[in-house]
Amino acid sequence: MSIQPEQTQQAAQIIDKSQSIVILTGAGVSAESGLATFRDPEEGHWSKYDPMELATIHAFNKDPELVTRWYHWRFTRARDVDPNPGHHAIAALQKHKSDINQSLTLITQNVDGLHQRAGATDVVEIHGTIHTWRCTITNKETPLRNLSFEHFPIPSEAGGLMRPCIVWFGETLPQEALERSFKAMAECDLFISIGTSGTVEPAASFILAAKENGAKTIEINRDPTPNTGFVDVALLGASGQVLPQVLSEIRIEI
Ligand code: OAD
Repeated sequence: MSIQPEQTQQAAQIIDKSQSIVILTGAGVSAESGLATFRDPEEGHWSKYDPMELATIHAFNKDPELVTRWYHWRFTRARDVDPNPGHHAIAALQKHKSDINQSLTLITQNVDGLHQRAGATDVVEIHGTIHTWRCTITNKETPLRNLSFEHFPIPSEAGGLMRPCIVWFGETLPQEALERSFKAMAECDLFISIGTSGTVEPAASFILAAKENGAKTIEINRDPTPNTGFVDVALLGASGQVLPQVLSEIRIEI
């Protein structure tokens, strides 16, 4: 039973009627898989480090071993957990919309690859991915499975170091991912923000841009965000619980 039955139904009806949907996700969708968000405290050894301070080129230049070890640890966490019902619901909705010749563009700020493992396709990874690393000198990319993590940091063939293909604070977002995001936002009739604090630009402004283009807006988040006040429907709760409830209203199987 939904704790917000009216909003759940409203959201389901809007989703059902919309033909071109954009979903933006953040760390909150992976929380129920067991991955810590950026603003919730981590447990264990790495809890004493602030992710905001490690996810920068300055931190990497200053202590490449520390930053490489941290990302390797984040990779092993992402590899060892499973997608949760929230990831599966998004993938099921995307498939359903595609089956009836409608569209759902999934934009994620997450680098963990869990959406793809749940079956989502063409995911726009605006903050990059932890599963590919590149040389600091040549930018040549290598899938993480081909790298050896025997030494930290990891030397590259060209004499530089390997770093994850992740957008660090102060770095620009991948051009193609940005272009795809803006195109989808200009064309969508519904924008759904899920599990993101809406505080890191440019993704934080996507929902406003879509609204200004005339799209309806829905937010699904455990806590209120700066966007909660202006969306058409705000559903407060864990995405792994809320999303399956919304989809069951319109009989989409996960
Ligand atoms: P944040 O950690 O900023 O926010 C996570 C949001 O998810 C918060 O608003 C939580 O209330 C919410 N949340 C937590 N558990 C949830 C659940 N089970 N269901 C739904 N919502 C839940 O993560 P992001 O918004 O993704 O950037 O952060 C954006 C960017 O800031 C990240 O991509 C990263 C970070 O610095 C880079 O690394 C470049």
